Amino acid sequence: MKIYLNNGSTSFPKPLEVTNAINEHLQALPGNYGRSGIDKSKGSIVSSTRKLISDFFNGSESHNLVFTSGSTEALNLAILGSIKEKCHIVTTAIEHNSVYRPLDKLKQVYGIELTIVACDEFGNVSLNDIEKAIKADTNMIAINHCSNITGAMTDIQAISEIAERHDCILVIDGSQTAGVIPIDLQKLNCHYFAFTGHKSLYGLQGCGGLFIRKDQNPEPLKFGGTGFKSDSLSQPHELPYKYESGTLNIPGIISLNAGIEWIMATGIDKIHERKDTIIKKIVDSISGYRGIRLYYSSINNSGTLLSFNIGQLPPEETHYWLETNYDIIARSGLMCSPVIRKYIGTEPLGAVRISPSYFTTDEEVDYTINAIKAIAYNEEKLI
Ligand SMILES: Cc1ncc(COP(=O)(O)O)c(C=O)c1O
Repeated sequence: MKIYLNNGSTSFPKPLEVTNAINEHLQALPGNYGRSGIDKSKGSIVSSTRKLISDFFNGSESHNLVFTSGSTEALNLAILGSIKEKCHIVTTAIEHNSVYRPLDKLKQVYGIELTIVACDEFGNVSLNDIEKAIKADTNMIAINHCSNITGAMTDIQAISEIAERHDCILVIDGSQTAGVIPIDLQKLNCHYFAFTGHKSLYGLQGCGGLFIRKDQNPEPLKFGGTGFKSDSLSQPHELPYKYESGTLNIPGIISLNAGIEWIMATGIDKIHERKDTIIKKIVDSISGYRGIRLYYSSINNSGTLLSFNIGQLPPEETHYWLETNYDIIARSGLMCSPVIRKYIGTEPLGAVRISPSYFTTDEEVDYTINAIKAIAYNEEKLI
């Protein structure tokens, strides 16, 4: 049996409630929300899930939540949909390519100017540096709530206040925190909040969403059938239809529904505490051991993942040994976050990352600690 420690990429196992809900859905007659299909009741699962997710994040109105294929599509919609002219945008060194690449597209199309605010050796970005980077023509701040490399968290509440003060659109990438850190969107008051379904919300790959603040009106990325105002050849203006052309990912939406119900029944704090306990135990056990370097600080950390390197071993090789000799599934390389390596000292190849689940057992944690130590021990002997 393999030990799966790659929940930062996609969560496994999914709670039984999630797999049961998907199975039940796939075995029933299909429906297509508000559109053709035999079982019209499938429409209600979409709106009830929209409401459930909106309540979970304390969104103001559920129609301001748009379903997407995940964070990447959500961030593309927020970034490409709302910037339509040359301006200045502030982002940080801890972003994922799902932020850098749409921003790069804006550079190519409109010649926008981009400031990438540095982080420290653990991935922490200073609020002061963000505010200092803002100029008269800054239109947007695009920021990761939590680095998928170091687990460093940004103070999004304080950044929201900075954005408000300087009249900038704030886009938050909540991929690594949604479902494991409580988020209150009405308090946060950001313009866009993107989340993915397949990580800590325990949904299927290919689902997620974007919360769009009431005063925002981004241009859609896609156009087509919505099952709403079908007599018109023009895209409807009403939310959420404006942004949901094409057949929705109903199995994904059902999985999100069951995933969020499971989180609420289990308790988000309990889930977080379990992950944090595991990470702290691994940190305490391998820190300082024979050439192991941790890219971790307990201050402002999500407590959900841990990146490290061993001696001179390339991360891919450590990853390979963990998997082939110990049946441990980790992740390695740049993990779609290429800029941070310059600041945390993982150039050029990145690091190895382990990200446990709520379901990871104490035995699996001890086994993993011993496996990492054994690889470090052998590597040191070879030098
Ligand atoms: C920080 C961060 N942003 C964005 C993404 C992309 O998410 P999705 O797979 O939903 O497109 C990920 C997933 O790896 C991530 O970790």
